[in-house]
Amino acid sequence: MALNPAADFYDNLGIRYEQSFGHDAGLISFVQSGLDLLAPQSTVLELGCGTGKPISSMVVEAGHRLHGIDFSSVMIELSRRQVPQGDFELVNMLEFSPKTGPYDAAIAVFSLFHFSRGEMSTVASKFGEWVRPGGYLFIGTMVAEDFQTKADQFDADGQCARGIEHTFMGKRIGNLLYTREGWKNLLEANGFQVVKTEMVPFQAPPEAECDSEPHYYITARKVA
Ligand SMILES: C[S@@+](CC[C@H](N)C(=O)[O-])C[C@H]1O[C@@H](n2cnc3c(N)ncnc32)[C@H](O)[C@@H]1O
Repeated sequence: MALNPAADFYDNLGIRYEQSFGHDAGLISFVQSGLDLLAPQSTVLELGCGTGKPISSMVVEAGHRLHGIDFSSVMIELSRRQVPQGDFELVNMLEFSPKTGPYDAAIAVFSLFHFSRGEMSTVASKFGEWVRPGGYLFIGTMVAEDFQTKADQFDADGQCARGIEHTFMGKRIGNLLYTREGWKNLLEANGFQVVKTEMVPFQAPPEAECDSEPHYYITARKVA
């Protein structure tokens, strides 16, 4: 059993996550359009790689060199088995320190929901170290404005809201979510320029026991 309750949650989900979210057309299209921007044989860091499908496998099939990290040992095991061309490491993003790099691109899809605001600031500053100038950052997340919220859920500076509830894989979850402006400011403060954003709703199959999710995709570029 993992020491971190969130990692434990993903250990228990394992392949069920891929069965529920692995065919998300909006996600696949976002990743493909990101990979199309990269030069051949780019180095790509995937933060929270899950089962390795679909994202890690798309990266290696496009001919890039992938380093995937995840804090769930079950997810890392699945990634190693399903994407043998990738290189995978069991580590919490907050403690990750690349042995090489910086990378040509980093991808973090639906893996940034378990941080406090302070931790998110730390990880965002790491994005600036992990991606080379001119490189890309691809983020899949959800934003506060796409949920029903009350004014008192927002921080005084309006950049994020707390305790935004939805049902994910049968569990009621209360997330801290940034606003669209909050993401833009966070990324700009760490040396990135947002070049494209898009919201694409996704409904997992009924057996997944998930609410419809307003997926928000951000493509950002590290300022040279
Ligand atoms: C919702 S899944 C998404 C998996 C994959 N990115 C995808 O879209 O198919 C989130 C993944 O991020 C991992 N994760 C969440 N927080 C993490 C952290 N702090 N460090 C490393 N991995 C993390 C989880 O273990 C899980 O595998």
